[in-house]
Amino acid sequence: MLIQIPRGTYDVLPEESGVWQKIEETAREVCSLFNYKEMRTPIFESTDLFQRGVGDTTDIVQKEMYNFKDRGDRDLTLRPEGTASFVRAYVEHKMFGLPSQPQKLYYIGPMFRYERPQSGRTRQFTQFGVEALGSDDPSIDAEVIALAITFYRKLGLKKLKLVLNSLGDPESRAAYRQALIAHFKPSIHEFCDDCQSRLEKNPLRILDCKEDHDHPLMGTAPSILDFLTDASKDYFEKVKVTLDEMGIPYELDPTLVRGLDYYNHTTFEIMGASRGAISTLTGGGRYNGLVRDLGGPETPGVGFALSIERLLIALETEEVALNQETALDCFIAAIGEPAHRKAPVLLQELRGAGIRADKDYMNRKVKAQFRQADRDRAKFVVVIGDDELAAQSANVKNMTDGSQVTVPFENLTDYLKSKID
Ligand code: HAM
Repeated sequence: MLIQIPRGTYDVLPEESGVWQKIEETAREVCSLFNYKEMRTPIFESTDLFQRGVGDTTDIVQKEMYNFKDRGDRDLTLRPEGTASFVRAYVEHKMFGLPSQPQKLYYIGPMFRYERPQSGRTRQFTQFGVEALGSDDPSIDAEVIALAITFYRKLGLKKLKLVLNSLGDPESRAAYRQALIAHFKPSIHEFCDDCQSRLEKNPLRILDCKEDHDHPLMGTAPSILDFLTDASKDYFEKVKVTLDEMGIPYELDPTLVRGLDYYNHTTFEIMGASRGAISTLTGGGRYNGLVRDLGGPETPGVGFALSIERLLIALETEEVALNQETALDCFIAAIGEPAHRKAPVLLQELRGAGIRADKDYMNRKVKAQFRQADRDRAKFVVVIGDDELAAQSANVKNMTDGSQVTVPFENLTDYLKSKID
C-alpha cells in the first residue's frame, strides 16, 4: 500500500514554493521596515506551557494539541501557536532586563492543531506572527495592526476588513464574567457539554464555541463594551484614535473574544476575501498578564499571527498572482562526449559569477535539450559540440529574439553577464 501524507497536511510542490518564498521575503522586509527582529523557538515545548499560557479551557488545549511523551517520559506538545513560546523565551532569557524595550520580535514557522481539516484550516499550518513585549503604549497596538495591513497590501490584497474589540482589564473582565454567567445559566442545559463545563470556569469561551454558534442566546449576550472600566475605555479610545489618525479604517465588534485565554484590552482580526467559510486572515491582541503568568515580571505584550495558508486563499480569491522570477539565465546544450565533459566546467564558472545556469543530465538529443531549456525558461542557450571545442568558443543563442553569436569560452561569462544584468 502507498503511504500517504497525514490528514490535514499538504506538500508545497516546487512550482508553488516560489510564492511561499515571496510571501516570507515580504514578511521579513515589512518586519525590517517596522524594526521587528526574528526569534526562533523550538517546534515542541513542555505541554504545561500551553496549558498555562493558552488556557486550560480553550479548544486548543482541550481538543487540538498534538501531545506526546518522549523517551525520557517528558510531556511535550507540538506548538499550536507562537505567543506562549515567545513569552517563555522572553522570560527564560531575561529579555525584560534588556535596555532595548519593547522587544519587537517576529516568527515564521509551522504550528500544529488537531482540527477538522477544511479550506483554510489544516493540521499543520504556517504562521507569520509578531510580538511586541514590554510596552503598554496604545500606539504599539496600532503599530502591530499597521504592520499586518502593510504586509497584506504589499502582496497586493485589497479586500481587507479590520475588526476591533476590547476585552478590558481584569476588573472589566470580572464584571463581564458575572454578566455572562447570569445570561447563560438559566438555559445552559441547551448548550454542548463543553459550554456547560465552561460556564463557571470561563464563560467567555462559550462565546466562541463552534458548536453552539447559532444558539439564540449568543446574539443577545451582554456586550463587553458595557463593562469596561474607565481606564480600559480610555485605553481603547487611544488605540482607536491612533488608528483613525494613521488612516486605518476598522469596524467594532463587541463579540470578538478570540479563542485564547491570554487576551485583554485590544483584540482584533483582519478578514479577507474568501470563497470558503473561513475569512479570518489574522488574529491578535494584547496580553498584559502573560509574562507574569509564565514566571516573569509584570510585562505588557501585544501581537498577532496570520497563516500563509489563509493568505494564499485570499490571494487566489482576489486573483492576485505573485511574480516569481524562476527563469534560468543560461542552459548549456552539449553535443557529444567531449562537450558533455566540458559543460560542468563551464557551469562551475558561470555559477561562480552569479549566472543561473544548468545543463542536460538525461543524455538528451540536442532538440530535447532545447525543449528542456524552454521548460526552464532559459534566456540563453549555449551550444557546444566538437567544432566549438576545437575553436574554444560557444554558440550562444538568445532565446528571446532567436539571434545567435559565437563567443570565445574565455569571454563567455562576461558576455552573458553583460546581457542579463
Ligand atoms: P489564532 O487566532 O489562534 O491566534 O491564530 C492566528 C491565525 O492563524 C488565524 O487568524 C489564522 O490565519 C491562522 N490559523 C489558525 N489555525 C489555523 C489552521 N488550523 N489552519 C490554517 N490557519 C490557521 C494565535 O495563534 C495567537 N498566537 C495570535 C497572537 C499573537 N496574539 C497575540 N500575538
